[in-house]
Amino acid sequence: TPDAHVSRDSRMIRLTGVHPFNAEAPLTELFREGFLTTPELFFVRNHGVVPEVHDENVLDWEFTVDGMVETPLKITLQKLVAEYEQQTYPVTLVCAGNRRKEQNMVRKSKGFSWGPAGVSTALFTGVVMSDVVRRAKPRKGAKFVYMEGADKLPNGHYGTCVKLSWVLDPNRGIMLAYKMNGEMLRPDHGKPLRVVIPGQIGGRSVKWLKKLTITDQPSDNWYHIYDNRVLPTMISPEVAAEGSKWWTDERYAIHDLSPNSAIASPAHGERLRLLEGGDVYTARGYAYGGGGRRITRVEVSLDQGRTWRLARIQYVEDEYRKADRILYGGKLDFQWRDTSFCWCFWTLDIPVQEMSEAKDILVRCMDEGMCVQPRDVYWSVLGMMHNAWFRVAIMREA
Ligand code: MTE
Repeated sequence: TPDAHVSRDSRMIRLTGVHPFNAEAPLTELFREGFLTTPELFFVRNHGVVPEVHDENVLDWEFTVDGMVETPLKITLQKLVAEYEQQTYPVTLVCAGNRRKEQNMVRKSKGFSWGPAGVSTALFTGVVMSDVVRRAKPRKGAKFVYMEGADKLPNGHYGTCVKLSWVLDPNRGIMLAYKMNGEMLRPDHGKPLRVVIPGQIGGRSVKWLKKLTITDQPSDNWYHIYDNRVLPTMISPEVAAEGSKWWTDERYAIHDLSPNSAIASPAHGERLRLLEGGDVYTARGYAYGGGGRRITRVEVSLDQGRTWRLARIQYVEDEYRKADRILYGGKLDFQWRDTSFCWCFWTLDIPVQEMSEAKDILVRCMDEGMCVQPRDVYWSVLGMMHNAWFRVAIMREA
């Protein structure tokens, strides 16, 4: 059986068949974890078999840096740990398919149905990718870093690319990580080495990293072309057949996440005992933005979006950025409140009377660029980046 060496938590909800493993935690369980997600409940998106690496071989894991560079490199994990400055900081990863189930209910896409728990946060430890790429000395004209994993898939290895200028900016936090919450990466999350790109979709954070190639063209890897794109809404599955010109237009490749939020309490299907619980009901949930842009407002509606109330936002990430809890390496200059690489949590106290009269509860958020979540679905063939207002029907205990 594929993945026989991988142990998994029984609370994880499988979203596809037996193999490959694609799973999310129940949102209530994920939320109970708080800011950092335990690796057992961290969402998993695998395109194929998980490479098997025994503990005794972890330090011998080798990856290459080649392409348009003066000095091609071969680096073992042992060398990466010994010769490069180590960094630790929290990053939220999100699958571009997070919440796709809601989009599939409007019109079926080609993707499988993620609930709202295709998002998780961990304290990643590793080396800033810019330190590694700079040592290889990129040549003039280089524009992209192609990243490839060890997993062998029906259409070759999993690979995609990121802009070189982003990689070279250490404050974007693009990292080669080997630890998650202080432990070695778990097999499902890239053991022993993965890329972590804060603020971008999880699909760019290549797991089981074997290769970085500096190029002047975007990647032509099958998974870069046919995955993680938002094609224009009128492009149907038939028009978007393999080989269609729509797939190679790089403008449709997703990079930054877009503002998104969800409600964890009340949960879908939860029956509320409103009148016994005191004067107010506290609604709660998460929100995240993309490209390092902070979520600056979260709004809740109890009347289908006619009026909105302002929720309180808790930026747990900032606790890690304050001087006494600095985990970040010396070279990085993430100022407190400058950027955001993580989800934030929101709460809103609602008088129980109003809560019990409402039909449903909606949430939406806005980022510092004043981009707000839309009311309507933007349907696209892969069903990516669903971020319309999140809704939970209010159900009272009989
Ligand atoms: N890297 C490799 N090598 N193979 C993969 O299948 N899946 C990508 C990305 N990196 C993938 C990969 C996708 S689509 C996502 S969303 C993230 O890994 C998921 O990371 P996680 O499983 O650790 O949550």
